[in-house]
Amino acid sequence: MVKLERLSQDEFNRWLAQSADRQAEDRAWVNGTDSKAEREQLEAMIPVLLPKGVDSPDHAFRVARDEAGNELGFVWVGVAPGAPEGTCLLFDIYVHEAHRGRGVARAMLEQMLESLKGDAIKTVVLYVRADNAPARALYKKLGFVEDAAPEGARSLQMRRTLELDPEDERAHTFERQHVVVGDLPSTGTILDIGGGGEGVIGRIAGDRVVAIDRLRQELEEAPAGPLKIVMDARELGFLDGVFQTVTAFFSLMYMKAEDHRRVFEEVLRVLAPGGRFLIWDAVIPPRGGNKKDAVIFPMTIDLPTGTVVSTGYGVRWPDEGRDAAYYQRLAEAVGFDVVSACATGKHFAMELKKS
Ligand SMILES: C[S@@+](CC[C@H](N)C(=O)[O-])C[C@H]1O[C@@H](n2cnc3c(N)ncnc32)[C@H](O)[C@@H]1O
Repeated sequence: MVKLERLSQDEFNRWLAQSADRQAEDRAWVNGTDSKAEREQLEAMIPVLLPKGVDSPDHAFRVARDEAGNELGFVWVGVAPGAPEGTCLLFDIYVHEAHRGRGVARAMLEQMLESLKGDAIKTVVLYVRADNAPARALYKKLGFVEDAAPEGARSLQMRRTLELDPEDERAHTFERQHVVVGDLPSTGTILDIGGGGEGVIGRIAGDRVVAIDRLRQELEEAPAGPLKIVMDARELGFLDGVFQTVTAFFSLMYMKAEDHRRVFEEVLRVLAPGGRFLIWDAVIPPRGGNKKDAVIFPMTIDLPTGTVVSTGYGVRWPDEGRDAAYYQRLAEAVGFDVVSACATGKHFAMELKKS
């Protein structure tokens, strides 16, 4: 069995040095340059790319171990500077020679890709040396497709999308949820967190909505009307107390549990005293021993405008359950008053107030 674990700062320093050596060798081979010069260039880029070392945002470093705790290899996935929204790069994957030929790299990559599914990452890109036939074959088996490259290219780009598909046998599809959305407050600007996708709140309140989303692509897909801003809900770029209403319509399910508290704190900060945080979200049961690793909620959404939206929201199945009580505890812990919470089937609506 292969387990992926986070790295300590010491392990990170050691692995990063080795990773930079390997990447310098590959670059030198691809570009026909000197590996020492490539190494120096990488050295200069690292503090910019990874300002917080092992804790740098948008990068995941994992060490692979077997059941006995032996170190098998290392994998690094992160967002490259200038990459399109929702795309991350497999910077490095390495297996110690003694452990090669036993499917370790495959297991590492599968686990890493699973951990990215349902997050903000929609595409994983990697570069592989054209002469590395075993690696190219492995990546193909894992669903990566080679981009077209000029004849004789020494480096090939491969990509894989991570969209959840209701037909995917690894996804558990729940019964269709019928969500009825009532009227929204009739005055003031509404901040909609994760307002891309179907843009439900924007469809109801149009230009009174400021829709923020981490992914430009999701905002572009949402209907016109709101002011759309690419922004991370963990760090809202608004002054304190400026909104009377904040909404999150099936957006919290798309966030990691470790980010929820930060997002709730940010929402509390930007709300004016007496302001409301309105949440609609899925009731996700704990995964338990279930082999399925993604959940999909088909939805029929009735808007107060008379429009009916038929869609589905799907994410990686978190180990811990997420229900109204989970969000209620979080809300109370950061200082919200819970006005109401109402669960129906596999979804709930909740109203929170800043006192
Ligand atoms: C699929 S949408 C949910 C439904 C959407 N509100 C609608 O009306 O259809 C969820 C969105 O949350 C966004 N999201 C996830 N984490 C985020 C974060 N930290 N900050 C901002 N948006 C985030 C995702 O990019 C995604 O577009």
